[in-house]
Order: sequence, then C-alpha cells, then structure tokens
Amino acid sequence: MPNTEKVDLRGAAATLLMTLYMRRVDARSRRPILGDPWAEPLWDRITHDVHGLWQFTGDVSAIACRAAILDRWTREFLSATPDGQVLHLGCGLDSRPLRVGVPPTCRWLDVDQPGVVDVRRRVYGDDLPDSVEQVPLDLTADDGWPALDADRPTLVVAEGLFMYLPGETVHGIVDRVVSGTPDATLAFDAAAPWTVRVSRWTPTFRAVGTEFRWAWDPAGFAHRHPELTERDDVSVYDEVSLREPRVWLRPLLSAAGHVPAMQDALRLHRFATG
Ligand SMILES: C[S@@+](CC[C@H](N)C(=O)[O-])C[C@H]1O[C@@H](n2cnc3c(N)ncnc32)[C@H](O)[C@@H]1O
Repeated sequence: MPNTEKVDLRGAAATLLMTLYMRRVDARSRRPILGDPWAEPLWDRITHDVHGLWQFTGDVSAIACRAAILDRWTREFLSATPDGQVLHLGCGLDSRPLRVGVPPTCRWLDVDQPGVVDVRRRVYGDDLPDSVEQVPLDLTADDGWPALDADRPTLVVAEGLFMYLPGETVHGIVDRVVSGTPDATLAFDAAAPWTVRVSRWTPTFRAVGTEFRWAWDPAGFAHRHPELTERDDVSVYDEVSLREPRVWLRPLLSAAGHVPAMQDALRLHRFATG
C-alpha cells in the first residue's frame, strides 16, 4: 500500500491503535457519537501488525463518549481563554487539536512518548497547524518536561492515559502542573480498580504487553491534592446509555448502569485550582 506509515509500537504506546480504531468505527456508523472526520483518513495512512482490534468493538460508544466530553471541555476552555495553554498528554494519534480548532493565540502542546511523537509527525505531515507543538516525553521520566508558561491559564487534557502510568507518575504530573501554573484545570478519565485485573486478561493488551496500572481512588486523590476542587465527575457509562446509536439498547444499558461496578468503570473528571 503506497504512502502509508508503519506503526511498529508495543506496550502502552500500541494502545493508540485501539482508540483510533474505535473512533474510526464510530465515524463510520450511521449515527456517530464523536464523528471524528480524521479517524478514517488517519487509519488509511498507517499499517500495523496488532491483531484482534475488533475485540474492542463493544467499547466504541464509551470511547466516543469519552472523547466527545473531553472535546467539549477543551472547547469551553479555549473559548473562555483563547490565549491559554493546553497540555494534550498521551495524545497518541488523536486529532483533538483539529477537532476543537486551536486558536492561533493558544499555546498547545501534544505530548507523548518519543516513538509515538515520531509516528504522529510522519502520519500527520503538514496537517497539524505549526502552532501545535509536538513534545516527545516519557512521562515516567523526571526530566524533559517543557517549561510551562505560568502566565497562561492551563488545561491538561489526558485521555486514556493515566491508567497506564504508575500512581506516583500520575500524582507527579498533577503536582508539576499545579505548582507550575496558578490557574490550572485538569480533565482526564480514570478507571475503577476492578478494571486493572480485567486488563491483565484482555488478549490484545497481553499481545502488545501492557496493562492498567493506576485506578481511581477519589478519597486518596482528594487527600493528595487538596489544592484542587472537583468541577465535574461523569460516568462514561451513563453517557453511553443516553447516546448509544442502537436506540433499542439504551434502556438495557440504563438498567445495567445501576450496578455500581458499571457506573464507576470509567469516569471523567475535571478538577481546577482555586
Ligand atoms: C490508549 S492510548 C490514548 C491515545 C489518545 N489519547 C487517544 O485517545 O487516542 C494511550 C496513550 O498514552 C501514551 N502513554 C502511555 N504511557 C506514556 C508515558 N509514560 N509517557 C507518555 N505517554 C504515554 C501512549 O503512548 C498512548 O499514546
């Protein structure tokens, strides 16, 4: 196949294929939830050897809802503070900067592991605006962080990232942002503790060599970051039961959603300083 880039990634980096695959399935559906116009063209630009992505078909609505909510929160931030600073952590091959329309006055940093940023640069070519900086950074390392602009209100948007990191890395990222910028908002998803065990038995995760490492602990997070106030706490499952394209499934999902394990499986959080 001409003009395609080989995506040869393993470990957590390979999971960017799973989310891109699911955004593409959503975009191709008759009633898309996210409707990412970039998912299909990006998919066509890559080749990869990770098998079994179809196993995630049942998660498409959840992943599309998650992305749609984080897009909405990002647009709200950009509209209130077009000269703000956005740290798009663990960006993978996501087209969020194109979907939300980054204003030229905004400082936007796409951050991911060096191997991923290399792929991202090659796959997007000139399609990302010059104002969107690509930052190769292993978030588990202590050094290599770009200097934050303390004068700009800052949004951290981290989608499908924190569950792959050790807890101390997640807390270290929050500490770094909160101490480096007086006006910070953090928008991220977090999975329930039971999903960590399930992730160890997910065949495609096993095949690429990854698993979840960090799970949501509301009391522990609040205790560790007293300077943050929670602005939103949304069950992705609740959103799915409202927006599932197969309308006949919605009442069933809604009923199942009363099970606490489903309610808490994946939640979106928005915290802010002050
Ligand atoms: C499930 S993918 C999500 C990608 C993207 N946010 C999306 O929604 O398509 C997880 C992403 O986290 C990134 N990631 C995992 N560990 C990382 C680390 N230590 N440093 C930087 N990025 C990391 C992976 O490289 C991958 O791109």
